[in-house]
Formats: sequence, structure tokens, C-alpha cells
Amino acid sequence: MTVVQWAIVGTGGIARRTLGDLRLIPEAEIVAVCSRSQQSADAFAAEWGLGAAYSDFTALCADDTVDAIYVGTPHGTHFRYASEALRAGKHVLCEKPLTMTAAEARELRALAEENGVFLMEAMWMKFSPSMRRALEIVESGTIGTPMFVQAGLGYPVPPDGPRRFWVAELGGGALFDMGVYTIALAHMFLGVPDAVSTVGEIRPDDVDLYESYTLSYANGAVAQLTTSITYAIPPRGSIGGTTGSIAFGEMLFAPRSLRLMTGTPPQPPHVEDIDFAQEGAGYVPMFRAACEAILAGEREHPIHPVSATIEVLETMELVRSQLIAQRDAR
Ligand SMILES: NC(=O)c1ccc[n+]([C@@H]2O[C@H](COP(=O)([O-])OP(=O)(O)OC[C@H]3O[C@@H](n4cnc5c(N)ncnc54)[C@H](OP(=O)(O)O)[C@@H]3O)[C@@H](O)[C@H]2O)c1
Repeated sequence: MTVVQWAIVGTGGIARRTLGDLRLIPEAEIVAVCSRSQQSADAFAAEWGLGAAYSDFTALCADDTVDAIYVGTPHGTHFRYASEALRAGKHVLCEKPLTMTAAEARELRALAEENGVFLMEAMWMKFSPSMRRALEIVESGTIGTPMFVQAGLGYPVPPDGPRRFWVAELGGGALFDMGVYTIALAHMFLGVPDAVSTVGEIRPDDVDLYESYTLSYANGAVAQLTTSITYAIPPRGSIGGTTGSIAFGEMLFAPRSLRLMTGTPPQPPHVEDIDFAQEGAGYVPMFRAACEAILAGEREHPIHPVSATIEVLETMELVRSQLIAQRDAR
């Protein structure tokens, strides 16, 4: 096997944003699409020149020409599609967040293991060149011990905007959609927190509107993270260490630049600005990594193993449980 033959499920926003990038990978071929409607599947297949169009996901899973399935549907549907695909022996790359609960993610990991296939959440942020460089900088000790992470993401999504932001069953709310990035960033540079403290607002139907959450660590480190679907938050992140800092340019999920500041007073800081070229729309490094891992027979990718997804979901569950407890106590 020298090429991974992909199918995509979902013909919405993310499918259109990413397929051009998947096409840039020589080791990838997109062979099929699945939609809830045959008409949409046919139209999408014609537009993208794909050989097969399905409206029945079980039929897609039975297609022997499909090696891997990219799940590009709203969060609340991920578990259903990913679990059926894994049971059918297909490799799965699934949009973020992989699932709505850590328990579901554990179940998917077990299914991938049982069926000997690859599973990864599409956490493209961790594959972006700027993040890889930041990790190298931190691991080299250049900024000393990382003690602080700050990250925010927020969009005032109109009430009549995409349903996936507002409908609980689809995974509505700021945390599932954006918190997954901010928490992944904190875990990447500080690890899994020892305590979490949250303020924010969650509706009676459990769709969270905004939240600010502090992750704290036994060594004194903290991450201050904020997400919102009702107001704008600049899409940026930064890391502070005992001898320097890294401030990412926009966007948090695939920064095109970073500013490294090093040195301690009384010396003036040494400032280095580093720009990064973007491949395609920014998803290319993640797709390339997934293809390489699948072709190498790997079950997970070391940059974003399923255990990392589960840890982020566990932190997210703590944040959500605190929002719910505060709401219910009011
Ligand atoms: N990595 C990124 O940069 C990024 C950016 C945006 C979104 N995402 C992720 O991608 C996923 C999809 O987001 P999106 O913006 O593409 O969402 P979307 O446009 O609302 O939905 C994507 C497609 O999912 C299919 N679908 C299957 N079951 C559905 C259901 N019950 N309700 C609605 N649609 C359903 C629909 O395609 P059919 O009509 O063909 O069935 C729909 O067009 C989310 O998990 C999100 O977190 C990632």
C-alpha cells in the first residue's frame, strides 16, 4: 500500500475547507463521499471529481476501495460515524472534538485496537510548523521552565448561525468547539492540570455560552483560557517560562508566526520573530502525518495519540461540570 484511499463523511463547512489540502498529499487519494442525502453526495462527488457517492454510511463502510474515513460532521455525530467505521476496519481521522465524552473516546480507542486500525482526532494545531517549533524551543530549555499558558478563542455566533453551535445534541457551545484547542495547548506545554477553576455561563440545555477557566499545577504553573460563542476573543496563545516567552501570532489553531523573547532583567529582552509558511489552508501537515502513520501501519500518531484526546476531554468535563454546578446553584 503506497496511497491511502480516503472517503469523507459530511459535505459541509469543514469538508470544503480541507479537501483541497488532502489533495496536496501525494500519498492520499479521495475516492468517496457520504452525505445524509444522495443528492448532496452526488453533487459533492461531481464537484470534487470523486468516484463514489453514498447516502448510506454502512454502504460506504462496506466499500473495499476505501481505506480511511475522515469524519467532517458536527461533534455530536462523531462517535456514531467513527465507531461504525472502526468496526468495519477503516482507519479514522475525525474532526475535533473526537467525541463528546472521554468515555466515548476510550471506547473508540478500544475499537481501533480490536480492529487493528488507525485512529486520530484532527487536531491540526499540534501539527502546525509554529507549534512544532515552539515545542522544540521549550524542550531545549530556551524559555526555562514553562509556568504560564494563555489562550483564547471566541466568536459572536449569531443565533441563526450554524446549528452545530447552538444545538446540544450536535455538540453546541464554546467549549467543545474552541475549548478543545485552548486546553490542548495548555496540556501540550504544561501537561494535565492538578486543579481546574471555571467561571462562565451554560444554558439549561447544557449549551455553554462563554467560560474562563484556570488550570493549575502543583509546581505553581497556571493556564488561563477563555472561550465564547457570544463575544469575540482574539484567537491567540502564548507561553511564559522562567527565562523567556513565546507569543503565537494568529490564528491559535495554526499560527503563522511566533515571537520568542528571552533574557532576564536587567538585560533588555532578546526578541526574535519567526514566520512560518503555510501549506495549503494549513491542514497539510496533519493530513500528511495521518497518511504516513497509516502507511507505516501505526495505530496512533505520536504527536497526537488518542490518550492526549482523552486527557483534553477529561479536562473539558471538569470545566463543564463546574459550569453546570454553578448554574444549578443559582
Ligand atoms: N479543523 C477546523 O479548522 C475546523 C473548522 C470548522 C469545523 N471543524 C469541525 O468539523 C466538524 C464539522 O463542522 P462544520 O463546520 O463542517 O459543520 P457543518 O457544516 O454544520 O456540518 C458538516 C456536515 O455534517 C453533515 N452532517 C451529518 N450529520 C449531521 C447532523 N445531524 N446535522 C447536521 N449536519 C450533519 C452535513 O453534511 P450532509 O448534509 O452532507 O450530511 C453537514 O453539512 C465539527 O466537529 C467541527 O468542530 C473543524
